[in-house]
Amino acid sequence: MKKKLLIIILILILIIPIPFHLKDGGTIEFKALLYQVSKVHKLNSNSPSGYDNGIIIKIFGIKVFDNVGENTMNNNDNKNSIIESNYKDINFDLTKRQVTLNNGDIMPLNGLGTYSLTGDTCYDAVSSALSTGVRLFDTAYMYGNEEEIGKAIRDSGIPREEIFVITKIYPSQFNDPESAIELALKKLDIDYIDMMLLHHPGTNDVEAYKAMEKYVGMGKIHSLGLSNWYVKELKEFLPQINIAPALVQNEIHPYYQENDVIPFIQNLDIVVQGWYPFGGRGHTSELLNNETITKIADNYHVSGAQVILRWNLQKGVVVIPGSSNPTHIKENTDIYGFELTPDEMQEINNLDRNEKHDWY
Ligand SMILES: NC(=O)c1ccc[n+]([C@@H]2O[C@H](COP(=O)([O-])OP(=O)(O)OC[C@H]3O[C@@H](n4cnc5c(N)ncnc54)[C@H](OP(=O)(O)O)[C@@H]3O)[C@@H](O)[C@H]2O)c1
Repeated sequence: MKKKLLIIILILILIIPIPFHLKDGGTIEFKALLYQVSKVHKLNSNSPSGYDNGIIIKIFGIKVFDNVGENTMNNNDNKNSIIESNYKDINFDLTKRQVTLNNGDIMPLNGLGTYSLTGDTCYDAVSSALSTGVRLFDTAYMYGNEEEIGKAIRDSGIPREEIFVITKIYPSQFNDPESAIELALKKLDIDYIDMMLLHHPGTNDVEAYKAMEKYVGMGKIHSLGLSNWYVKELKEFLPQINIAPALVQNEIHPYYQENDVIPFIQNLDIVVQGWYPFGGRGHTSELLNNETITKIADNYHVSGAQVILRWNLQKGVVVIPGSSNPTHIKENTDIYGFELTPDEMQEINNLDRNEKHDWY
């Protein structure tokens, strides 16, 4: 009996996302400390698609399986990809701090990410961001905080049309997408959803996207997008749908730059938005204190966080840093008063390690 109970507890620890608090103030799922399975995309100039897909498995932080091998990218591939990008064509306006999406809607260039912010912490963070001038919010069914975000927006008294809310439905919802969309509308309770994304590819994703298209027709969702879709996935998915995604949201930070994927997406007239700009909780100290980042930050009397966000903007990538700290939230909006030189941009580009910090 005891043995059975122990096995059940062990299985629960291995599957349930129990938060574990880290020294740098962030949280990480406890199971991620025990094991991590990461889907990786490594650039490979010899591969027909331009990159290889693979899996890396780590147990107690030690790599026990890697079927992709060493990074096959060289700095020239990296540099050329950036030069080929024509993101300026998609009306990425640093002066107005907004981008015009491919459907004509306008979205701010910086927002607040709300992953792992729940309850009063989430309500307070969104209220603080709104009073600081932030008008873009990123949430998801999985974050369990759509109600708090909707309430903070309603309580702010700011006209609804000035605020842009992105939410996402999860693959576990793809078999009944209409209920998932109705649930998001009900929880947010802000009349309509500015943009809805599929959280990551999964069974029935085309059907789920088509359900979102139906809600665009009804005026309940204004724009559509995808999250965690890369070159191969986009090539397969796009021919099967009717409304082009306006945005793709993927992991992007100096240690995982996606310099092959970003121009590919932008050249389709789709805006790129980066998640984990500071590497995500558990990795932020390492990134924010990186020598190259802090050296560049000193040149402009700004923080490492601001340099990373500015580097994203200058690549045409919209930023949604997460924070519950009003000082950080404000600091993360103050990214329009300095400009990184091409050399500084390249120095940060050179930090790429193809090091993914989450598995999607
Ligand atoms: N589509 C997807 O699959 C996906 C996956 C993950 C995340 N996301 C989205 O992307 C957003 C961003 O990712 P994230 O929030 O997980 O990670 P992140 O933005 O990379 O890092 C958040 C961490 O950085 C700290 N931080 C924020 N501003 C700071 C500053 N100026 N100085 C120092 N530390 C600072 C925060 O602490 P404080 O609270 O103390 O400021 C928090 O611990 C999420 O919130 C979510 O909306 C999407």
